[in-house]
Amino acid sequence: MKLVVVGTGYVGLVSAATFAKTGCDVVGVDIDAAKVARLSRGECPIHEPGLGELLQEGLADGNLSFTTDLAAAIVDAQIVLSAVSTPTGPDGERADLSAVFAVVDAVAEHATGDLVFINKSTVPVGTGRICEERIEKAIAARGATARVVVVSNPEFLQEGSAVQNSLEPHRIVIGINDGPAKMMAAERMAALYRPFIGEGIPVALMDRESAEVVKYASNAFLATKISFINMMSALCEKVGADVRQVAAAMGQDPRIGPAFLRAGVGYGGSCFPKDVRALVATGRELGLDMAIAAAAQQVNDAQRERFFQAVLAGLSPAATVAVWGLAFKPETDDVRESPALELAAKLVAAGHRVRAFDPAAKPALPGAELCANALEAATGADALVLMTEWAEFRGADLAAVRKLMRGDRLFDGRNAYEPETAKQAGFAYRGVGV
Ligand code: UGA
Repeated sequence: MKLVVVGTGYVGLVSAATFAKTGCDVVGVDIDAAKVARLSRGECPIHEPGLGELLQEGLADGNLSFTTDLAAAIVDAQIVLSAVSTPTGPDGERADLSAVFAVVDAVAEHATGDLVFINKSTVPVGTGRICEERIEKAIAARGATARVVVVSNPEFLQEGSAVQNSLEPHRIVIGINDGPAKMMAAERMAALYRPFIGEGIPVALMDRESAEVVKYASNAFLATKISFINMMSALCEKVGADVRQVAAAMGQDPRIGPAFLRAGVGYGGSCFPKDVRALVATGRELGLDMAIAAAAQQVNDAQRERFFQAVLAGLSPAATVAVWGLAFKPETDDVRESPALELAAKLVAAGHRVRAFDPAAKPALPGAELCANALEAATGADALVLMTEWAEFRGADLAAVRKLMRGDRLFDGRNAYEPETAKQAGFAYRGVGV
């Protein structure tokens, strides 16, 4: 089966490599010619454990190739999977769907026979219907007989463990609506996912709108869980409680569960902030108040700000601050909506000297210095701020770090250290809710 994956970002590249591993003939398409050239040479453009190996395996097996020529790739494809980005649009809330529509228009123009169009990007409810209508209209206008079915098949992978999540998903959600070509689409989706179904991974088959909602509901729920524990962390600080103990005991109730109850500087990344904002905007358009999602967003903003203010208040004027971690989470080089970048900018604006290090992320940091390693960043610093809980930071010898520093402030934005250990190492420690 020939599968065309459009967009070679996190979701697209991981999907392309995974389906190539399961034996599909996969063509990855991207408008970025330099990226396509790198991918064709087997160079992985992102830091994602296991992805480079999977990419090289697919290229060597001949199951995976890359091109910029979307039109040519579509002509003999059975499935086109769109994984282009849907960033927040110019209004600051709603998803910008222009990249999705560009793929849709190419499919409408070049589809020849039966084709399944999978939408993997996170798109507002109803987008699948708009895409299908757009395609049908264009095909009719050119007098063609091609049948294109639009399927919603949201992605649930987490950056940093994307390959594993993709090879062993908790569930596969497929949304197909009734129509004359529904059987054709269902059969192709079953063929695509057969290796996973064979492993006993559950498939949730539903209508397209429900599948579109599942994605937003899942991300908003997880974001709410994080914001809930962050809200409790503020209370814990006031009353002298320890949010880590609170979260652990709460999580032992199977109705609550232990996951996503780590208090910290708030969630970031390319998904939660964008998707929660988009859900709130969708609700507003429909005359609905998505109150819990809006509150999750508000608590997240407040949690970041609370931590930033605590750091700023704990510094002497023109201090040298080491920032450990720039990626929005460990095991990725992604800095989209990363709280660390906002903190660095705030510190620079307040007249402090920032020396930052991240094992994978190397972004431009106006006014700050990027250091070659963690110890270099800490050397001579008045304060150390831990923003991303990479294993190498968690395992650092705090006493040795303290000796390299001038000051004794340690702001732990991820509760990566035991307060007692940090104190014994000579630090004035501040965590989140501890
Ligand atoms: C998230 C979802 O977890 C995936 O299921 C989904 O597929 C993806 O968005 C998406 O929509 O594409 P991701 O953004 O890669 O995945 O990362 P997460 O591991 O969910 O972390 C998101 C943020 O929440 C990070 O900033 C992380 O530090 C923070 N977080 C997570 C906490 O502050 N506390 C926690 O307990 C867990």
